[in-house]
Amino acid sequence: MIDKVRWGILGTANIALAKVIPAMQRSPWCEIRAIASRDLAKAQRAAAELNIPHAYGSYEELLADNTVEAIYNPLPNHLHVPWSIKATDAGKHVLCEKPIALSATEARTLIEARDRTGKRIQEAFMVRTHPQWLETRRLIHTGRIGSLRSIAGFFCYFNSDPGNIRNQLDFGGGALMDIGCYPITISRWIYNAEPQRVLGLIERDPVFGTDTLTTAVLEFAEGHSTFTCSTRLAAYQRMIFHGTEGRIEVLIPFNAPNDQPTQILLNDKLIEIPVCDQYEIQGSLFSQAIRENREQPIPLVDAVHNMTVIDAVFKSASSSAFIRG
Ligand SMILES: NC(=O)c1ccc[n+]([C@@H]2O[C@H](COP(=O)([O-])OP(=O)(O)OC[C@H]3O[C@@H](n4cnc5c(N)ncnc54)[C@H](OP(=O)(O)O)[C@@H]3O)[C@@H](O)[C@H]2O)c1
Repeated sequence: MIDKVRWGILGTANIALAKVIPAMQRSPWCEIRAIASRDLAKAQRAAAELNIPHAYGSYEELLADNTVEAIYNPLPNHLHVPWSIKATDAGKHVLCEKPIALSATEARTLIEARDRTGKRIQEAFMVRTHPQWLETRRLIHTGRIGSLRSIAGFFCYFNSDPGNIRNQLDFGGGALMDIGCYPITISRWIYNAEPQRVLGLIERDPVFGTDTLTTAVLEFAEGHSTFTCSTRLAAYQRMIFHGTEGRIEVLIPFNAPNDQPTQILLNDKLIEIPVCDQYEIQGSLFSQAIRENREQPIPLVDAVHNMTVIDAVFKSASSSAFIRG
């Protein structure tokens, strides 16, 4: 029988309650043991709804629970690094939501925390272990579209709610941090390289100060990647990979449903990927890495590299110049 990893959840975030906790509860590798909120009643409500045995009225109490081995951190972006460090200092492994930090410099402090404590930290890019992405990468790397030369991505939604964390500049809000991080991680992973130059174009909300329309060009040694992300456009997501002999489109690249197959287009041929839950896979693989002392699916240094590209897009947009990688 599998000795499940015992997880604690920081906060009562929507993504945790709606997707990640139920998915991890279905994983043979995870036990969701406790949830904490700044408000005990909220934690108790979430615990009752999701059948979680322990509820705490502060994050500190959760970290002091010696039965909890690993923490899922879906706090607003500006709290990712501080609470992930507190969690590792309390002897817990950490699965932290994207983007892992507010900058590459801040992300590097997680590497110090990992090395100091010997605990694992991983950025929760669930897309990177979804079978549709493993298949896309396999097709590209085995030459099915010839040489990959161009990637184009879109990830957009409309959200102008001033109370939403995505519209708070000091929380690390904005389109690039919230969703632009996805085409960046996918492009770096597919090209298996870091961009040599980055160009960014950014439009900001005049009141919130967050970026609401961001377009970037990433120049890799083997080809280009361009993407647009927005918090003020009709909802849409797509990734297209264009090679010398063909193309692949990933139809629902990021919010892949867990109740129907996903589809990728190889030229005009539809390839169906069987139903799965990317959050369950993420929780299982990270827990298995902990339990069996294996390499985790996404190394922590990858998160620092992703933040480096995010930093470069911001820097390019504010200086109207290419930023070298
Ligand atoms: N991987 C994915 O598919 C995915 C999808 C959506 C979001 N995310 C990421 O997950 C994180 C949470 O996103 P979300 O939309 O789920 O957030 P949310 O619903 O706004 O929840 C954030 C939680 O953080 C806690 N919190 C602590 N300090 C806070 C503060 N000063 N202001 C607001 N909340 C505070 C709150 O819990 P308590 O009140 O209970 O303490 C709150 O419920 C973000 O980093 C986001 O990028 C990932």
